[in-house]
Amino acid sequence: MKKYAIAAIPADGIGPEVISAGIDVLQALAQRQGNIEFSVQTFEWGSDYYKAHGVMMPEDGLAQLKDFDAIYFGAVGAPDVPDHTTLWGLRLPICQGFDQYANVRPTRILPGIQSPLRKAVPGMLDWVIVRENSEGEYSGHGGRAHKGLPEEVGTEVAIFTRTGVTRIMRYAFQLAQSRPRKLLTVVTKSNAQRHGMVMWDEIAAEVAQDFPDVSWDKMLVDAMTVRMTLHPESLDTIVATNLHADILSDLAGALAGSLGVAPTANIDPERRFPSMFEPIHGSAFDITGKGIANPVASFWTAAQMLEHLGEQEAATVLMAAVEQVCAAGIMTPDVGGKATTREVTQAVVKTILGWQES
Ligand SMILES: NC(=O)c1ccc[n+]([C@@H]2O[C@H](COP(=O)([O-])OP(=O)(O)OC[C@H]3O[C@@H](n4cnc5c(N)ncnc54)[C@H](O)[C@@H]3O)[C@@H](O)[C@H]2O)c1
Repeated sequence: MKKYAIAAIPADGIGPEVISAGIDVLQALAQRQGNIEFSVQTFEWGSDYYKAHGVMMPEDGLAQLKDFDAIYFGAVGAPDVPDHTTLWGLRLPICQGFDQYANVRPTRILPGIQSPLRKAVPGMLDWVIVRENSEGEYSGHGGRAHKGLPEEVGTEVAIFTRTGVTRIMRYAFQLAQSRPRKLLTVVTKSNAQRHGMVMWDEIAAEVAQDFPDVSWDKMLVDAMTVRMTLHPESLDTIVATNLHADILSDLAGALAGSLGVAPTANIDPERRFPSMFEPIHGSAFDITGKGIANPVASFWTAAQMLEHLGEQEAATVLMAAVEQVCAAGIMTPDVGGKATTREVTQAVVKTILGWQES
């Protein structure tokens, strides 16, 4: 029996709704597999914790998380707390503190889900976006001076280091190499940003030499939005900076049908620290408490977590169950269905356990 210690941080908005659905599905998988066990400890950190204590998580938060096998995260953000406080108070300190430098975001059109792209069918859009997750535009460098005066200045400095760029390129080339098409697109903006982004391109070309079997090309980020929309079949693995991939992966989620199906994994490839798995979406204030949040993104990221833990079979069973339930039309309203979060979750649990019986 393999036991995995999972730290759940449901946090804000629909986070608790989709994480509790995900835990139900994980426990069903454990029951079906018979040889794995999940011990889930929930941390009630987030915006309510901030309102009570003035911080999003305790000062020793990372120390409390460090010995877990993985972190299962919901979403942060509350209407009455500034977004930079919530993000920089919880999610980013975990990503940066645990050096989860590879942010991996798979996207494909699941059966039964309609893409807003007229011609897109399952199989035509099947991407993995690799986002640099430790530096770039979100490194936190910059500042403000002369606050409130006419001469006030604000700077937001993008940091690109040879170490940071080389390791994410290497990760992306390896991932591309492991996929059937062995195809990588490096997203850049080196026409307008002539320092860090030119170094980014140069390092991509250097790393490419170690992967002669991977075909790769380079795309300006603005042109990339056009290619994603008009020629989705021409893409496979994609690597981009922290900001560029943040934006492109929301577009990817929407093109695959809804933000509610898009997962993400914040990986420490060297496995020094726990990696963190979460849906891409935020707190979704407009649907919080209505019971209609799409839990598919939180199921898919749970499958990424299982893969990271080496439980490939459980991950495959989970994704097959999700696809079967979507194909049967049991879906939440954001993807055109009428089902509630609970009904989708129960259908996935039943499908997983049904296989055990057959
Ligand atoms: N990783 C994170 O924790 C994260 C990511 C993005 C935004 N946020 C925060 O969330 C808050 C709201 O941000 P936003 O409105 O820009 O983005 P959002 O992702 O919360 O919502 C955007 C739209 O997508 C819909 N949506 C999102 N997830 C869904 C799901 N699972 N099922 C059905 N519909 C879903 C919402 O209803 C909304 O209409 C802000 O405070 C923001 O800072 C947090």
